Amino acid sequence: MKNIHVLPYTPQLQGLYTIIRDKTTRRDDFRFYADRIIRLLIEEGLNFLPIEEKRVVTPTGSDFKGAVFRGEICAVSIVRAGESMEHAVKEVCKRVRIGKILIQRDEETAEPILFYSKLPPDLKKRYVLLLDPMLATGGSACKAIEVLKDVGVAEEKIIFVNLIACPEGIKRLTSEHPEVKIITGFIDKELNEKAFILPGLGDFGDRYFGTE
Ligand code: PRP
Ligand code: URA
Repeated sequence: MKNIHVLPYTPQLQGLYTIIRDKTTRRDDFRFYADRIIRLLIEEGLNFLPIEEKRVVTPTGSDFKGAVFRGEICAVSIVRAGESMEHAVKEVCKRVRIGKILIQRDEETAEPILFYSKLPPDLKKRYVLLLDPMLATGGSACKAIEVLKDVGVAEEKIIFVNLIACPEGIKRLTSEHPEVKIITGFIDKELNEKAFILPGLGDFGDRYFGTE
């Protein structure tokens, strides 16, 4: 599928996912290893920004033909779990602006409810890294993308960065917003009857923030 990019499942990544999926993993380890995966995902997401040629002269006096990022970016996290990904964005993009969209799934129906959003005013001229670790039914991500499109962000300028996706969420997101790029670390098998991802890792927000 043209707009879906899955991180190569290297031995490193296998080890990291094994730790965060393990139900016996303690919260400090869960955070530490989830953060390592998130950093890899953010770096990968940045590869989808446009670049243009830039020439520099090295200390040896040689000419070097390189590249520079073109276009401005912004990050928007889907609160709460998406906030866990903000730190990695700040580490790699020093002056990045960060917007927030608070969406929570109804615990019975899994329907997303939008409570709040606060976005940089010039968002529509920027590429947007949309942050949420879990893509289950796709309801929350689609609602967040609608919020971004309502303020004028073009679909093709949205890069959705995600730790674990599943076929149901990918199907919904790609059919409702086909030009959005999805950068994910792993595509899991399916959803259970409570709309949790299988095998998954449980409730990401609860495990990361310690509210389980
Ligand atoms: C989780 C997760 C996503 C959403 C994914 O958030 O962080 O936002 O569920 O599910 P969906 O694709 O079916 O919409 P949740 O609403 O549980 O809130 P949290 O961030 O506080 O954990
Ligand atoms: N949200 C989570 O945190 N985990 C899931 O499996 C589904 C939604």
